[in-house]
Amino acid sequence: MSITVDQARALMHQWVASEGLRHHMECVAACMQAAALKVEPTEVDRWMVCGLLHDFDYEQHPTQEEHPFVGIAHLRERGDVDSEIIEAILGHATYSGVPRDSAMAKHLFAVDELAGFIVAVCKVRPNGIEGLKPKSVLKKLKTANFAAAVSRQDIALGCLELGLEEAQHIQACIHALSARAQDLSLMP
Ligand SMILES: [Fe+2]
Repeated sequence: MSITVDQARALMHQWVASEGLRHHMECVAACMQAAALKVEPTEVDRWMVCGLLHDFDYEQHPTQEEHPFVGIAHLRERGDVDSEIIEAILGHATYSGVPRDSAMAKHLFAVDELAGFIVAVCKVRPNGIEGLKPKSVLKKLKTANFAAAVSRQDIALGCLELGLEEAQHIQACIHALSARAQDLSLMP
């Protein structure tokens, strides 16, 4: 039996106490859900599991020596998380050396930093995600001291790997997050 979305969320909650990190994984899962609906509609749940678990060991094991390797060891031991999800989680850490071969892996990497960035943009807008346009996100990306921890380089590489213009990919992520704006608290 493969892990379900609910089980993945419960596992993530067991490992992560931080509301911020839980929220980040929910946002990435929402973007993965939307991407799967376009790319691999029969596998939406697996793509969501990938999003929900991609940083689940980060709170307890944040170093490059341990994240995401400790979490992956745990998932392998459980035996209910398939190798495509495992490879995608490994591949989202650029230093792991694991190539992002699958569409799932490419999308996870491409939405990870961008989802965080869009959430940061929403926080400084009176209406949150409502009415947010890619143009505004692109402008913020050019502002080096805004959400400075977010790697612009990784966002650009993610888009390149998907073969999408940044504006197109940003629009897709805005759309995905907007669809769940209420439960992700992205509206005032
Ligand atoms: Fe992440």
